Amino acid sequence: MDWLENDEEIEKRTIYPKDNSQNAFLSDTTSSSRKDLEDKLNQEKMKVNRLENEIQKIKSLKDNKSYNKNSITQYIHEINFNDLKLGKKIGQGGFSEIFETKWYNQKVAIKVIFDPNINENLLNEFNNEIEKLFILRHPNIIALYGICPKSQKLAIVTELANKGSLFDYIHKNQNINIPITFKNKITTQLINTMSYIHECNFVHRDLKTQNILLDDNLNIKLCDFGLTKLKSELNSGSGQYAGTPAYMAPELYERKFYDEKIDVFAFGTVIWELYSQKIPYFNCEGSEIKNKVLNGEKLLCTRNFPQGIVELIDKCRLVDKNKRPSFKDMEKMNLFN
Ligand SMILES: Nc1ncnc2c1ncn2[C@@H]1O[C@H](COP(=O)(O)OP(=O)(O)O)[C@@H](O)[C@H]1O
Ligand SMILES: [Mg+2]
Repeated sequence: MDWLENDEEIEKRTIYPKDNSQNAFLSDTTSSSRKDLEDKLNQEKMKVNRLENEIQKIKSLKDNKSYNKNSITQYIHEINFNDLKLGKKIGQGGFSEIFETKWYNQKVAIKVIFDPNINENLLNEFNNEIEKLFILRHPNIIALYGICPKSQKLAIVTELANKGSLFDYIHKNQNINIPITFKNKITTQLINTMSYIHECNFVHRDLKTQNILLDDNLNIKLCDFGLTKLKSELNSGSGQYAGTPAYMAPELYERKFYDEKIDVFAFGTVIWELYSQKIPYFNCEGSEIKNKVLNGEKLLCTRNFPQGIVELIDKCRLVDKNKRPSFKDMEKMNLFN
């Protein structure tokens, strides 16, 4: 049949859009062009839906100060804060508190933002930490389990390092001789972990004993990736010369061009602290530390340090960053004699 003979037939063959104002136009068209129009209409509807979703996401980011969902973090498991049973407080950061927590009957750690008025820079640091923890996977890096995305309870859920920080371990045992085998193990694990991070083209930028945690077997679990950057992102953006005085390389103090060797300098200070069981530059003002570091003043190593370690500390803390060894170089060194 070439002609549509009655209204009923016309009704059956014509697919009207919901908006009746377009009926006249559609009923005039041939069935193939009608199909094209329908397809276009559907595509447009999908676009509108997508855009509405995007707007919703941006609104929730703005209003809730939630974490930044992007092509990387969209795959992170979202955890409902109410599914967590908060236990004792185990740490305190600049804008966050860390609690031992129960999640599905296992003990985990949760880093909760306590400041509801967290500013843009700190929020960026928090988002950065989530992203870097998601990317970096290593037995000696704290494992990310998920994030609580809601406003007041913005939080990161990670593996728990039951024995606390290396800082506490060293300095609470200041009067006890920590076995040299333990110190050598920590040094080896740190070299391997930092070698992995640099191999992945990241720079930690806040290596210090407070950010090196210990698990039940006294293996290290590196944490605090808020300042971690890609090597290619260094020397640009905000907070680029951030750090903790005793671990900061001379080029940071001088606000010069820097690279991954700032982590090598910090590592030198960390292992001095580990073998000496002393707080580096204890009782020194920031300006004093700066002068000593810029003058290349060595940290005093006593006779109980293995000779290989004394040499390594001095090399890692050289003022000329290009003369410091890489972690890959250190993996090949004979350090413990
Ligand atoms: N997963 C964890 N397990 C055990 N203790 C932790 C854990 N994460 C953090 N801590 C403790 O909390 C302290 C602060 O955490 P950190 O992530 O370094 O916060 P900030 O970025 O504010 O320095 C650490 O030095 C450590 O003592
Ligand atoms: Mg820290």
